[in-house]
Formats: sequence, C-alpha cells, structure tokens
Amino acid sequence: MGNNTVAVRQSIWSLEPATAFSSSVMLNYAKAVAVMRGRKPDDPTSWSYQAAIHGTRAPVPPGADWNQCQHATWFFFPWHRMYLWFFEKIVREAIQEAGADPTGWAVPYWNYSDGPLNVVSTLPLAFRTPTLPDGSVNPLYLPYPNRNENTSSDKKQGVGLIGAGINDGGQIPPRYVSHAQAFTLGNFGYPPPPDPSFGGPQTGFQHEGSDFGQLELLPHNPVHVFTGGYNELADCTKGWMTDPDCAAADPVFWAHHSNIDRLWKRWLDTPGHLNPTDQSWLSRSFRFYDPDRKGFVTMTANDVLDTVAQLGYGYEDDPAPVSLALRPAVAAVPAPPAVTRTTLASAGPLHLSPTTVSITGTVTTPPPGAQALLAAGPGEPRHLSLNLKNVEREQDAPLVFDVYLNLPDDQPPHDKTIYYVGPMAFFGNGHHHGMDMGDTTEHHAGMSFSYGITNLVQEQRAQGAWSDTSFRVTLIVGGHREEGTPPPPAMVHIGSVTITAE
Ligand code: C2O
Repeated sequence: MGNNTVAVRQSIWSLEPATAFSSSVMLNYAKAVAVMRGRKPDDPTSWSYQAAIHGTRAPVPPGADWNQCQHATWFFFPWHRMYLWFFEKIVREAIQEAGADPTGWAVPYWNYSDGPLNVVSTLPLAFRTPTLPDGSVNPLYLPYPNRNENTSSDKKQGVGLIGAGINDGGQIPPRYVSHAQAFTLGNFGYPPPPDPSFGGPQTGFQHEGSDFGQLELLPHNPVHVFTGGYNELADCTKGWMTDPDCAAADPVFWAHHSNIDRLWKRWLDTPGHLNPTDQSWLSRSFRFYDPDRKGFVTMTANDVLDTVAQLGYGYEDDPAPVSLALRPAVAAVPAPPAVTRTTLASAGPLHLSPTTVSITGTVTTPPPGAQALLAAGPGEPRHLSLNLKNVEREQDAPLVFDVYLNLPDDQPPHDKTIYYVGPMAFFGNGHHHGMDMGDTTEHHAGMSFSYGITNLVQEQRAQGAWSDTSFRVTLIVGGHREEGTPPPPAMVHIGSVTITAE
C-alpha cells in the first residue's frame, strides 16, 4: 500500500538469544504497549480496544467492531494477517509518541518450533522479565495467574500439569509446537476433500467454530493454551491466552500470530501449495481501524496475498525473491478429481470419566474394501482421517489431551510411537457469551478434531498393530506428567469418532 521500504519481522530468538531487551525492537514494543495502555478505551488505537477487536467480555459499544476474530475457518489466516498489519502501524505511531524511532519496526515473531526446543518453546525473555533495563515495570510482562502458572492448587485438581510455569522459563513440550503435520497437507481449504486442510474449512464470517485447519489445530491452539494456562472462571482473571476473549491483551499474542502468519508464507514456499482462488474467500471484506487514514477501512484476502508488495513487510526467513523470468511457470492447476468421503469405522458417543479413557469402535467397511481404500494407487482415495466430533470439555477438565489410536494396554503412552495421533487442545471452549445469544443456529455442539492418519495406519498395518474389524481411540491427559501418576479425571464428552477415507 504505497510503502517503498519493506519492514522485516524478525525472530525474537535471533534478536535476543540470551538477554531481555538487548534489542531495540523489543524495547520499543514495550514502550508502545505502555503508550497504548494509557489511551482511553474508546480510542481505537488503545490497547484494550485493539484486544477487543479479537474478542472481549465487555459490552460492545455501538459501532465498535469487536469480537471479530476468525477461527475454525479458511478466513483464519487472512483475518489475522490484516489484524496484525493494522496493529503494527498503530505500534509504530505509539513508538514515535514514546519518543523513539519507529522506522522499520515490525512485529517480531516467537518461533517456538524451529531450533533447540528446550530454548525456543519457552517464552521469549522480554515477555517473562518483570522489569525493563531501567528498573521500571515491563509492559510486556504479564504476571501469574494471567499466564500458565502450574500451581500446586491446580495440581491438586489434577488439571494443572500442562505447563512448567511459562514465566519461569517452563517449556512447551515439543509435540505441541510442531507444524510438521500441517505442512504435509497440500490443500488450503475444505471442502473439496481431503479434510483436514492446512487453512480451515470454507465458511462465511465465523467468529468461533468447531472445525479447525491443521495449523490452527497445531501449533496455534496448543501454544495459546500452554501460554495461558487455566482460566476456569472464563472471566479474564486468569489464563488470558487460553481464551479468545482475553488473549490479545497479552503482548505475546502478537508475537505468536506473527509466527503463525510467517508459517502461512512458509507453507506456500512448497510448489503446489496454493491459496484459494474462490471469490468467496478472496473478496469477503473485514473492517479495521487504519491509523494512517484516521478511520475505519475494509480489506479482503485479495489485498493481503503478497506481504511485501501489498503490505510492505516480510519475514527474516523469506526466501530471496525469484525474478519472474526465472520462476518456473506454474501449470494451470487441474480441477481436483471428484473425491468422496467414505466412513470406514465409527464409535460413540462417549462420556469420558475418571475411569474411562478409551473408546472402542467397529471398522464397518470390511476388507477388502478397507484394503482398497488404503492402497496408494494413483488417483485412488487414500487419505485417511480420524475425526472426533462434538467434543465438549467440562469446566474443570484438563485443557490438553493426547490422542492415541490402537494403543495396547501394556504400552505406556508415548508420542514417539506408531500409536500417537496428535494433541487435542481446547482454545476457546466454553466460549459462550452475550454476543452469541441472538444467534439462531443450534446449540454450540463442542469442538471437532480431525487428524490425518494415513501414514500411521500404514505403519500399524506393517507392524501388525492394525485390526480390520475394530479400532480403539485413547485419550490421555496431555502436557508434562510425572511418570507413574494416574491420569486425572477426563470429563470430556465425545459425540462421535470416525475413521474416514477420501
Ligand atoms: Cu484469533 Cu491465536 O487467535
């Protein structure tokens, strides 16, 4: 948008590997947060207003575009890209107001998945250091219990074992920060199949939903939950990052989303990975406050496809631009073959209790049908998914589970086995408030989780761990668990479990 210079979003771990505020990027961010916090709540550039655009529990004043965040939808990526871009401009102005030089400032990213995980998946230092170098309060720091504390009282409830105290340098376990599964997917949206998709299901405006794109499912949602921790009162007095209505008030939110936005670009680096071309995705508009125009403007996905050319920012790890002449011609994308979805196996509903952690189901498509569906012949349907639908978590239930398929009784659950499917993290569950009351759609029926299991099933078949007649899904409370401790009460309701082929 007319910018001649490109602002570069940098990795916080490369800016500040060892010392908080050794970089002006983080120091200026802290100054800007203080300036924005000092503004009146009805000022669209105030900290609280910016956070409320994402979500809030406060009553919405007339004309305010609050509670706009797009989740469980193919608008997840473009909406958050727009949101960060306007925020970035507001921060630059606030840096100037604080008397510092905002030139080139761009939202730094928390890269929790690439690098030594015992370092990068901890909270970057500038967010967990209570004071600035001059001894004043650090605006980027948020005290417990607004972040994941892992207190002994939580432990007594049996639910507090998911983190190690994020402000004390506690690490998010590696399986919750990985984008590997999402990056194996070549399709942005769903439908058409296969499901899951990288970017989320095709929907209209969707502030909250139940079906997630794979990158939103992992690592986006678990990083929220491990940073926020428990928020059982759901009133923004605890665990801000765990709740979409409080999350953007934590300054680390923006660094998390800078990374999510970067991962969208990195996914597109792979030939064949493409954004949707449907007009319903490209031209749906969203409204934001633009500090340059001192007013509200609308924007569409079509306006944010190229961060450098259209928005004037890039990422530290963007590949060098390839000149158009050298870029391999992109062949016209053939229409995807008509793919149908077949349910191979199903189970449920199930109410997990302290004594039940597994659900057994029946494989309904008998072999050799299943064999054919698993065969990897060209053009044959062969994408297998495990789908848990209408999953509801009780208020005090754990926030994170690990999902296993066909885990034998005598096997300790471990994510480095052929039984591990993936994590299930509840970001935004129980997210009911006034805004939804006028909604005439049926009762919000919990969350859905889909996992690609094609390789896992092939490995289980190869090792004799797969049965053509029945399957079993086991949920284990996630996070850090001390060896030998019994799993805490599950208290989760699952509407149905299916294995599908596409
Ligand atoms: Cu709209 Cu990470 O959330």
